[in-house]
Amino acid sequence: MKIVEERTSAGAVTLYDFEPTPDRICEDVTRGLTAYPKKLPPKYFYDEAGAKLFEDITHLEAYYPTRTEISILRAHAADIAGAIGPHARLVELGSGSGDKTWILLRSLDSPAAYIPIDISRTQLIEFALKVSEAFPELEVAPVCADYTAELELPPAAGASGRTVAFFPGSTIGNLEPADAERFLARIRRLVGADGGLVLGVDLRKDPAVIVRAYNDPEGVTAEFNLNLLRRINRECGGDFDLDAFSHRAIFDPAGSRIEMQLVSSRSQVVRLQPDPDFGGVVEVSFDSGEHITTEYSHKYDLGSFADMAARAGWEISSGWTDDRGWFSVLLLK
Ligand code: AVJ
Repeated sequence: MKIVEERTSAGAVTLYDFEPTPDRICEDVTRGLTAYPKKLPPKYFYDEAGAKLFEDITHLEAYYPTRTEISILRAHAADIAGAIGPHARLVELGSGSGDKTWILLRSLDSPAAYIPIDISRTQLIEFALKVSEAFPELEVAPVCADYTAELELPPAAGASGRTVAFFPGSTIGNLEPADAERFLARIRRLVGADGGLVLGVDLRKDPAVIVRAYNDPEGVTAEFNLNLLRRINRECGGDFDLDAFSHRAIFDPAGSRIEMQLVSSRSQVVRLQPDPDFGGVVEVSFDSGEHITTEYSHKYDLGSFADMAARAGWEISSGWTDDRGWFSVLLLK
């Protein structure tokens, strides 16, 4: 770990840099496309265009999760802050643009520190500076790290007080249940004995509502899904024909999850050149109608989520939902 003083025109902040290993996109893509059934890791959706498309998704009428979670955070901010208690250290897992962070930070009673963790160094520093400008009394200690890997909290922000992690967005839903349980257990160790976790969980509901959220009439989700192939073409020397694949999102009731796919409309061979220096070409053949799984998004019911959390050492201390019971913000202790 390196401690570096980061200076920009907006000010200076101390960054705890765990120097996360850069994503191995071409390796992961090659592995996923040569497996059967074919799959691609959803974390690669978020290149610049993908991040912008996701932002557009969050404003769609059909995509209810973001809007619902924000309304819950706003309506119950005082209760959530009360349940967290005073002088907490707030650790945000994947702070990104930090839209939801403000709601919590504004309501907390004299927080001791804010520790945003993100793999994107530039966005992390920018956001950390904004927070420290808005809350001059608050110790802001950004950590550049991959929160899905083993990590430690910065020693400087290791003062007394309760440590509470914040993981909004129902991102936990992207993990398969066994991985979600391991992730929860790791966060439990990270925050320590009297620590907590505030997280967003998308709940099971009428499948028609869920399916529509991932098949919006405007076609933005389709564009978001297909953009993954565009990225692979650019970064891994691929020759995917985007017109020969189509977006599909189905609800699997047994797994209680949305499965997003890219479906090949004909039999075809796609070439990748993951390493131009090395020159190796990977050929991937598709049958007509064959799909690539690009994302799962699990929809939990509170009972089964509580069971999984319990196996990871957590207890649901409080929970808040919207009037329709579509989404839940939980405080685990
Ligand atoms: C940000 C991962 C929670 O699963 O709903 C939105 C991503 N994918 N539309 C989700 C997503 C398609 C989103 N998460």
